[in-house]
Parts: sequence; structure tokens; C-alpha cells
Amino acid sequence: MKQNTSTEEAIKRWDGFADTYAKSHHEQGDLHKEVFLNPTLATLMGNVTNKRVLDAGCGEGYLSRIIARSNATVTAVDYSSRMLEIAKERTPEDILIDYRHGNCEDLNILEDKSFDLVVSNMVIQDLANYEKAFQEMYRLLVDGGVFIFSILHPCFITPESGWERTENGEKLHWNVDKYFYEGVYEQSGLGDKEKMLLFHRTLTSYINTLIKTGFVLESIVEPKPSKEMLEKYPSFEEDFRCADFIVFKLKK
Ligand SMILES: C[S@@+](CC[C@H](N)C(=O)[O-])C[C@H]1O[C@@H](n2cnc3c(N)ncnc32)[C@H](O)[C@@H]1O
Repeated sequence: MKQNTSTEEAIKRWDGFADTYAKSHHEQGDLHKEVFLNPTLATLMGNVTNKRVLDAGCGEGYLSRIIARSNATVTAVDYSSRMLEIAKERTPEDILIDYRHGNCEDLNILEDKSFDLVVSNMVIQDLANYEKAFQEMYRLLVDGGVFIFSILHPCFITPESGWERTENGEKLHWNVDKYFYEGVYEQSGLGDKEKMLLFHRTLTSYINTLIKTGFVLESIVEPKPSKEMLEKYPSFEEDFRCADFIVFKLKK
């Protein structure tokens, strides 16, 4: 079936999914963010005090609030009005965040070179035109500015991947297929009213596009659970078998 990937349709899907999505998020995000992404992002971001930070695709805003609490000046953009409404409701009065309605693929509402740091947590695989989004992040950063983004690991989470199980449901190994497919696919198990769409690209496409945009790659992290997180959530032991996420740190 042909998928509608227009921006209008994508916004409608996110608006329809926003309340369900936000229910799974508390002040540390969801469980995967707490275990894998937040510790990695914190290490890669370092000290954000007095930095001008853009949270591109902020969703219900938990990461914007964490960063703003560290004394950064935070602008947070999302194209889902419902997500922004929830983000504003969840932001206490003493935390100043400039929430803006905008599309990460065209952020002409924001000036060139107006941020020291752009963070985009689990957004780039959700948007159709990642080349344009990378160009926008580059444009918005000051010279020497940093762009950090996390995505589902494209080598392991593909349009056809998942556990091979025994008849009793025991996990044998993780299967990966259709790695070289580039384009849209439906994410299983997400979305209630709407089917949510994701975009798959190879690791080569991501890295070559970032280089072509002008970014210099500083580091890549494939997050694993820490000892403390494993003590808290022992079921994440299986995440030592392959990586669900990859996080990039780039410099302009
Ligand atoms: C998976 S959620 C992640 C939200 C948030 N960064 C977090 O970590 O909780 C993806 C978010 O990106 C937003 N989004 C997707 N594509 C976008 C685009 N092109 N421009 C702006 N927001 C976008 C969606 O509306 C949604 O809120």
C-alpha cells in the first residue's frame, strides 16, 4: 500500500498520537530514554550552562526541560501543535522554554547561527527529508557549534527486523532484513488511531549526507545499559546482544 508521506499527513499522525505518546513519558522520558539515551546525551552535551540550545522535534518536552534546568537558554520546536500544547502544560512557570511551532526540514522562523548546540532526540528517522533537516541544523549553528542526534540504529532496526523465537517464545537471535531499502515503512506496535511511519536509511547514507552538509564527525555512541541501570532494570541484559540506538555528535 502506498504511504502518504506529505508533511500535512505526518503532522496529522503526530497530533493524533500525541496524547498516547505523552502518557508513556515522565520527566526522564520513557524507559528507553532513561536507560540508553539520557546518559549518552548528557555525556555528549557536557556543560550546557549559558548555551543557546535548540531541541529540534521536542515532543512533550522532557529533554528541553532537563536542559533548561541546567541553565541553558532553550528553544524547542515541533510541528505537532498537540505535542507543543502538552509540552507547555508540563513546563512549570519557573522554567523558561521558547516553544515554537515549526518543521525541522524548514526552520525559516529561526535565524542563521543562533544556537551553540542543536539536539534532536529520536526525530530524524521520523522525517522524510533528512538532507534538508541536516542543512537546517547546520545553518542554525554558530561556527564550531555542535549537533547531537539520536536515531534507531539503522543496522539493526530495519523495515524487517525482530527476534527469532522458539515455539515457547524464547528469544534465539535478532533477525535483520531489508537493510539496503531506503524509504518509508510502518512501525509496528506504535500508534493507536494512526499508523506511525518511519524512514529507513543505511548508515552510509547518514554519514555521507552529514559530511556533504559540512559537518565534522566528533563521535558516535551505540548506547548500552550501565551497571546502575541494569540493577534497576535487569531485563535490559539482552541489550548487550545488539544496539537499538545510535547517537551522533557533529561539529560545524
Ligand atoms: C519520537 S518523538 C521524539 C520527541 C522528543 N524529542 C523526545 O525525545 O521525547 C518525534 C517528535 O518529532 C516531531 N517531528 C517529526 N518530524 C518533525 C519535523 N519534520 N519537524 C518538527 N517536528 C517533527 C513529532 O511531532 C514528535 O513530537
